[in-house]
Amino acid sequence: MAAAKLRTTVLQGLGGALPSRAVTNDDLAKTLDTTDEWITSRTGISTRHKVEPGTSTSDLAVAAGRRALENAGLDSVDMVIVATSTPDYRCPATAPDVAARLGLGTIPAFDLAAVCSGFVYGLAQADALIKSHAAEHVLLIGADTFTTLVNPTDRANAVIFGDGAGAVVLGAARDGGAGRFGPFTLGSDGTGVDLIRVEAGGSRQPVIDTADPTAWFTMQGRAVFAAAVAAMADSCRTALNTAGWEADDVDHLVAHQANRRIMTMVAASIGVPSERAVIHLDRVGNTSAASIPLALAAHAGQIRPGERVLLTAFGGGATWGAGTLTWPALEAPVIDLI
Ligand code: ACO
Repeated sequence: MAAAKLRTTVLQGLGGALPSRAVTNDDLAKTLDTTDEWITSRTGISTRHKVEPGTSTSDLAVAAGRRALENAGLDSVDMVIVATSTPDYRCPATAPDVAARLGLGTIPAFDLAAVCSGFVYGLAQADALIKSHAAEHVLLIGADTFTTLVNPTDRANAVIFGDGAGAVVLGAARDGGAGRFGPFTLGSDGTGVDLIRVEAGGSRQPVIDTADPTAWFTMQGRAVFAAAVAAMADSCRTALNTAGWEADDVDHLVAHQANRRIMTMVAASIGVPSERAVIHLDRVGNTSAASIPLALAAHAGQIRPGERVLLTAFGGGATWGAGTLTWPALEAPVIDLI
């Protein structure tokens, strides 16, 4: 008798959304003490998109979620997860509102906060829910509006971040073919809580005074740079080992889009040729939890079904993770400008 095939999680739909307002390096240099040359050479970013007042994380999440559902050819799922660190409100979560606006009914919906690692944490969570039969289909959306957290006069951070949302529909399958996710590896180190932080606005310091630096996003850039390279390279090695892949098997490395130099260093450290590192941040900056699904949606036309994709992220917490994906046959995904 043939052994029963294990239930696996597959990628069935992909979509994205960006605010229509694009901000170039030269635009920023009009008000900040910076230059296109500094930003491009230190980060690899040329343009990012910024929400206008009145547009929120949920607006981007709804647009991206709608595109992912269309791409999957579905009008219902069993669960919605929104990975975000910039929810519409401190309370309640953003996901139930997104599910309702997508017409998905009274299904479970919750937010997941792991900053720039949120999408990879969300994939691992959705994979576990599907494998445990708690869901057949999960809509996972990474959505962030970090331009609302960063002080616009802070040149170190204002040049890095952009807003956006990326979404995937994940479904259950019984074969090990294209679209299949491999095992995920996740990690965290709370001793690095102050590497990336917004101090005010939580239970420790509820009052937000925008005249006070604690109201705004802070990052110890150099320390984060080193920690990000080490943690992403380590988790990539673990994910490759668990999947039984060699570095040379990786056709596309999709790392969190924070800094071009970080992505090149991770590729070199794990032995993946640097031209296989997918670069999308030049057009959108660091979109936090949205960066991996947006990079996948933008790059989808250049990935052939059956090719091997390695995903990895590092973010505030500190948090990190990695996982593998064998690319499916998908309709061309759409990234909406809203
Ligand atoms: N324009 C011009 N000069 C600048 C700018 C700017 N926009 N920003 C900083 N500088 C200056 C600094 O003041 C400093 O000047 P000094 O030497 O006179 O003091 C100099 O440039 C070097 O500053 P560093 O911060 O050391 O610059 P670095 O090369 O490290 O680049 C950066 C900074 C881009 C932030 C980099 O450290 C980085 O990418 N870090 C990692 C970011 C990351 O991966 N984050 C993780 C995810 S984010 C999240 O989870 C929310």
